Amino acid sequence: SSPQMYVASTTAPVNIAVIKYWGKCDTKLNLPTNSSLSVTLSQSDLRTHTTAACSPTFTENRLYLNNEPQDVSGARQQACFRELKALRKKLEDADPALPKLSEHNVHIVSENNFPTAAGLASSAAGFAALVRAIADLYELPDSPTDLSRIARQGSGSACRSLFGGYVAWEMGAAADGSDSLAVQVAEASHWPTMRAAILVVSAAKKGVSSTSGMQATVATSELFEHRAKHVVPKRMAAMKKAVLERDFESFAALTMADSNQFHAVCLDTMPPIFYLNDVSRASIRVVEEINRVAGRAVAAYTFDAGPNCVVYYEEANEALVLGALRRYTAGVAGWEAQEVAASVPEGFDV
Ligand code: PMV
Repeated sequence: SSPQMYVASTTAPVNIAVIKYWGKCDTKLNLPTNSSLSVTLSQSDLRTHTTAACSPTFTENRLYLNNEPQDVSGARQQACFRELKALRKKLEDADPALPKLSEHNVHIVSENNFPTAAGLASSAAGFAALVRAIADLYELPDSPTDLSRIARQGSGSACRSLFGGYVAWEMGAAADGSDSLAVQVAEASHWPTMRAAILVVSAAKKGVSSTSGMQATVATSELFEHRAKHVVPKRMAAMKKAVLERDFESFAALTMADSNQFHAVCLDTMPPIFYLNDVSRASIRVVEEINRVAGRAVAAYTFDAGPNCVVYYEEANEALVLGALRRYTAGVAGWEAQEVAASVPEGFDV
């Protein structure tokens, strides 16, 4: 008989941080210099779909992303393969009847339905989907928090995409990274009126990768040290409270302040890193103006390592917020497309 092939498929959604991760204290284990908190977006909007397969006939590990073969020899991919295989090996050692999948190579086929590496958290969804697909293939009993430790080693922010809703990545204190993991703060259904709009200012790949940007920041920025030590711990507590109380005004104030401080820290890096462009800054001004006219914060902008703008708002203010954003950003040079993901962030079955 021909050798058996084992297959599992999954999807993982993008998450957009409202308290940003920026800075590593251990580049090998991806241990962060501060905790972070994000909102996982709906699967129907931005997600990675991944299939993992293994067979004794596979002669090497392989990874295809959007039909392009990828290099899997990197330390981040290797760490994910190695850790997942070790967990499978434990199961096989405990139950000799199980097929020895840990001895096979793995083939991974992934597809993003959004621009890769354009500051839209593609690596977050990508590594979360990779880890979930292989964990499903191996029938691992491990919880999303357990798996978040592995996904973190692929890409830091990926650990937060193993949950839907509102997710904290607690930085931890252990040198081996065992307590640097993701926990769910609240389900998406806790705050059903929350929406996110994504303005795709540019689908081009970002100029400075998050890894090299973070390293430069850690090495050169004094503002960064102040942020990590004195600002983020307070903001993490305040953001959790805002989410649990569904307090949009506090959520918005913290989200915008944290995005602005992250980009200030980038500017304080030597040489400075510029992720925002004129369209990004125009989007900030529109949101600030919407909030001024409304007399309170009804919209909150945030930007990751790229110029694309994510705006959070509540359902009741959708016409107001999206109407103004569309009106004032339509004619701006550099605007390629406008995609609105006006949907409920949702969890996925675990
Ligand atoms: O996970 P990485 O290494 O791609 O870094 C992500 C960094 C930000 O997106 C800018 C912030 C965050 O917390 O997601």
